[in-house]
Amino acid sequence: MEILKVENLSFDYSDTSVLRDVSFTLHKGDFLGIIGANGAGKSTLIKIILKILPYSKGKITLFGEDLSRFRDNHKIGYVSQKASSFNSDFPATVKEVVMANLYSRKGFWGWYGSEDKKKLDDVLGKVGLSGYENRRVGKLSGGQQQRVFIARALISDPELLLMDEPTVGVDAQSVKQIMDIITSLNKQGITIIMTNHDTPELVRVSDKLLIFCEHGNGEFVSRANLTMSQINDIFAGKRGHHHS
Ligand SMILES: Nc1ncnc2c1ncn2[C@@H]1O[C@H](COP(=O)(O)OP(=O)(O)O)[C@@H](O)[C@H]1O
Ligand SMILES: [Mg+2]
Repeated sequence: MEILKVENLSFDYSDTSVLRDVSFTLHKGDFLGIIGANGAGKSTLIKIILKILPYSKGKITLFGEDLSRFRDNHKIGYVSQKASSFNSDFPATVKEVVMANLYSRKGFWGWYGSEDKKKLDDVLGKVGLSGYENRRVGKLSGGQQQRVFIARALISDPELLLMDEPTVGVDAQSVKQIMDIITSLNKQGITIIMTNHDTPELVRVSDKLLIFCEHGNGEFVSRANLTMSQINDIFAGKRGHHHS
């Protein structure tokens, strides 16, 4: 089943040309890693797919529908970089932060039935935070907070999950935990698009790669088709770079 098709997408900010003729297709269960130097356009591409930025050149099809007509927003989950300055006085509980993403879709607030409780338990279990529903988000560790945000994305049953450097600024043990969670979500059939500050780790977990070199025209490859020397080039920064 085709999830996302991007054809000849180009994008410029007023003074900067960022994406050039980017094309790729994802099917259900794919794990796409987007690789490229700082400023290559990775976040821009994710924002375009999320309809945060408008595009004019190229064509994007989501679940078989033109992006401009796509309305099933609950099929798309998004996890951004960790909100690093989460105030420890932040008053919301885990349950409130996670469920808000479901109620905003349902269009009303406050109703919390046994069905919802089951969903909450399910997504908290998936991110290893069972029993944390009444804890205050501001009091949790950075890695736990980021897992709360993954649970928040999961509560609407997304089929496609976009993540822009979800592990940046998180301690090493939490990074591993979060990567394991993401891999396991992917094994359960969720299609993943992810950028990461740790290129080798992203190459390890992805099965498709979109590699941005200097000119913005991402090169789309199956990881299985990469030779060892191409992989070494990626790690050496000749095709795609590590963030410094
Ligand atoms: N809102 C903006 N207005 C103008 N230029 C921007 C804006 N956002 C990003 N850019 C520029 O676009 C390029 C791509 O940025 P970005 O997509 O954030 O790259 P990446 O996520 O790969 O680091 C960079 O040169 C950046 O400076
Ligand atoms: Mg970015």
